[in-house]
Amino acid sequence: MSALAQVAASQPSEDAGALPFDETKAAGFEERMVDTLNGAALALMISIGHRTGLFDALDRVPPVTSAELAAHAGLNERYVREWLGALSAARVVKFDAASRRYSLPAEHAACLTRRATPGNLAVFAQYVPVLGGVEDDIVHCFEHGGGVPYDRYPRFHEVMAEDSGQTVLPALFDHILPLAGGIEARLEAGIRVLDVGCGRGRALMMMAERYPNSTFVGYDLSGDAVNWANAEARRQGLSNLHFEARDLSNFDRDAEPASFEFVTTFDAIHDQADPLAVLKGIRRTLTDDGVYLAQDINGSSHVHHNLDHPIGTLLYTISCLHCMTVSLAQDGAGLGAMWGREKARELFAEAGFANTEVNELAHDIQNCYYLCRP
Ligand SMILES: C[S@@+](CC[C@H](N)C(=O)[O-])C[C@H]1O[C@@H](n2cnc3c(N)ncnc32)[C@H](O)[C@@H]1O
Repeated sequence: MSALAQVAASQPSEDAGALPFDETKAAGFEERMVDTLNGAALALMISIGHRTGLFDALDRVPPVTSAELAAHAGLNERYVREWLGALSAARVVKFDAASRRYSLPAEHAACLTRRATPGNLAVFAQYVPVLGGVEDDIVHCFEHGGGVPYDRYPRFHEVMAEDSGQTVLPALFDHILPLAGGIEARLEAGIRVLDVGCGRGRALMMMAERYPNSTFVGYDLSGDAVNWANAEARRQGLSNLHFEARDLSNFDRDAEPASFEFVTTFDAIHDQADPLAVLKGIRRTLTDDGVYLAQDINGSSHVHHNLDHPIGTLLYTISCLHCMTVSLAQDGAGLGAMWGREKARELFAEAGFANTEVNELAHDIQNCYYLCRP
């Protein structure tokens, strides 16, 4: 009997009707918790493997020693060897004890390397350390309420841009824009486009390059993200595009009326301070013949419908340690990433969108795509 089971079995239940303690179930759950600790540790090492380029380096070379890999990747051998130990124990990397050489099976490289984009899951592993960095602040919020502001997440915008670099950019022209029936022809002809909560704005940059007759504007609260985006747009020579640092909490009143024919939000409504005000502002700034396309987290507003969600635990966790808390830090609604389709449709309707359609795309299990028309 495990230590945990011994403790539990030795406690007489005060509730005469309680179910008997199931030792097999307890042992199975304990095993699952041990797997969870290994999995959490592995997520940290996967994040490091991505950031240091170790997965890409391993993928490029034949089986290597730790010294050869460190030299190839330009990294410190002692650290590389410890990383290889963890990855070998996790059976992600293959270790040949006789030759002391390590290799990355092609089937594993297929979801851990940059060449695997848009299916590089190592990108998402970065959220684990990004969120772990605010654990003390979050515990404080559990005890006292309030929220954790964006500036407590030094790498957030970088990781977010890599995330949407997989869910949005590679699918933008072939799958996402075609959802907005006929928008490509209007973009060719020349319309005004706004991306709300644009972050580093890479989706707008792709559109601005492809559609030179249209003009593009991005708004975001983060001065850092906006500065990065404007610098990158200049570097790319895109003159039909600019970004503005702007707090959209009063967008329902601040938005310039009927100014854009196409408005997009990519994963940018649920973590706003006032999502309804932003949606009302989008309606106000959209022309009557305009289209609003919103990518947002795909889930239900009800926990019981999310129990079998393939990444439900991950999404609720990201929500608790980021999406919900950054909104609460602005005295906001704190909707959270799992606000769900039901709540989303309710708010779209309240904001003045009479007609909302929901789509799912095969490449993106994390999000759904709403098409909203006045
Ligand atoms: C989850 S990120 C998505 C960023 C980007 N659309 C992407 O897909 O990479 C949400 C964005 O909303 C912005 N945001 C949050 N609160 C805001 C506010 N009150 N006003 C304007 N932007 C805000 C954040 O700075 C952040 O860039």
